[in-house]
Amino acid sequence: MRSNKLLVATILSVAVSLVHALPSQEFAVNKILSNASMPDAEKGAVVASPSRHNPDYYYHWIRDAALTYDALLTYYEHANNVKLKHIIQQKMYDYRNFSVRLQHTQTLTGLGEPKFNVDGRAYNGEWGRPQNDGPALRAISFIHWANILLQEGQDKYVRDALYDAKLPADLPIKVDLEYISHHWQEASYDIWEEVKGTHFYTLMVTRKALLDGAMLANKLNDHGAAVWYQSQATLIEKQLTLFWDKNKNLIKPTINQTGGMTDKKSDIDTAVILGLLHGDRHDGFLRWSDAHLLETLSKQISAFKSLYPINHVTNIQGVAIGRYPEDHYSGSDKWQGNPWVLCTYAVAEALYRHATELKSAGDVRVAASIAAYADQFIKRVDYHANADGSLSEQIDKDTGFMQSAYDLTWNYAAILTLYESIRNY
Ligand code: NOJ
Ligand code: NOJ
Repeated sequence: MRSNKLLVATILSVAVSLVHALPSQEFAVNKILSNASMPDAEKGAVVASPSRHNPDYYYHWIRDAALTYDALLTYYEHANNVKLKHIIQQKMYDYRNFSVRLQHTQTLTGLGEPKFNVDGRAYNGEWGRPQNDGPALRAISFIHWANILLQEGQDKYVRDALYDAKLPADLPIKVDLEYISHHWQEASYDIWEEVKGTHFYTLMVTRKALLDGAMLANKLNDHGAAVWYQSQATLIEKQLTLFWDKNKNLIKPTINQTGGMTDKKSDIDTAVILGLLHGDRHDGFLRWSDAHLLETLSKQISAFKSLYPINHVTNIQGVAIGRYPEDHYSGSDKWQGNPWVLCTYAVAEALYRHATELKSAGDVRVAASIAAYADQFIKRVDYHANADGSLSEQIDKDTGFMQSAYDLTWNYAAILTLYESIRNY
């Protein structure tokens, strides 16, 4: 009796403290919706941040947008808030129409073009392009939506507006799947828009898009396409084994570099963790308990722990995590790499998924301690958040204050997926 009560009390206190540390889902959804309703933007466009200078993030990035709409769908699947659910449905129709327009807009690099003006015009300024994770992530989000719609009995819209077998492809999911299945072997820029080569992140999300796509194609009687997408995913899985660096004992972010920045010598990069998260199909490919993966994660945590002064001034065990240790991008003219909110949340989410795997394998005690450790990363972000709960892209490594693009949309998407991983635990 006594120990039961104690246990319940502990669980309750963890739950309560977490609710305080992680902004509510409705807060995150509303922040996203306001970034997707800019007065001068086309419907469906979402700015990476409302910030127009230092840095100027007032664009529709294919990656940020896809991750954001996908996270809204994740929320949608579990939410009881009918009003918000209805708004999200409408936003998905807008996002679909805007994406179709972008897919048919002439750009410098075609479907790999990373960002657009919010009125739908191509952005032709200097940039690291193409970035081929974009179309893969967009396919993932539309496939997610198609599966929800099929469950809701809306087959007609799915077949008329999202996927059909026709070639050359004309509906958005197949347009992206055809592109990524034919171009994944080509070098492109990484998610940080700095290095050209073959990237773990891009291949992980391309694999997921192709396998999710193959399942959808089968459902919609496009069996030939399913076989093709599947075959390319199998080839990608072979490529993905090449990222393990046995001397450094970690999964590298990039192989076969052909261009871009050359000073990233450590090969420690949160893009790898993000690739594991965003490419996760819960299908047993690269388990969260995989020794290589855990080595990579722990290298990551210790590298940033020692790098940033703010990691040593509170008693919060959770470490503020950056993109990669050699980073110098502060979002302004200052030459200073900082921890990022979305990177810190990514480590929390990775730890939660690891804990979930351990728990289902029966290792309940270790799982609980890992989950508690994950909560510390959530607390770390909370500690540095603005007083109103809003979150910018970065945390100043010395002062701990929010820094760079304010109200970064991706941060709020990360909150929604983090809730999902906590729910699954
Ligand atoms: C802008 C990119 O968005 C950012 O990721 C990069 O670090 C800087 N340019 C510097 O190259
Ligand atoms: C810079 C980041 O490096 C990149 O990943 C992101 O897409 C853009 N900012 C927009 O948020």
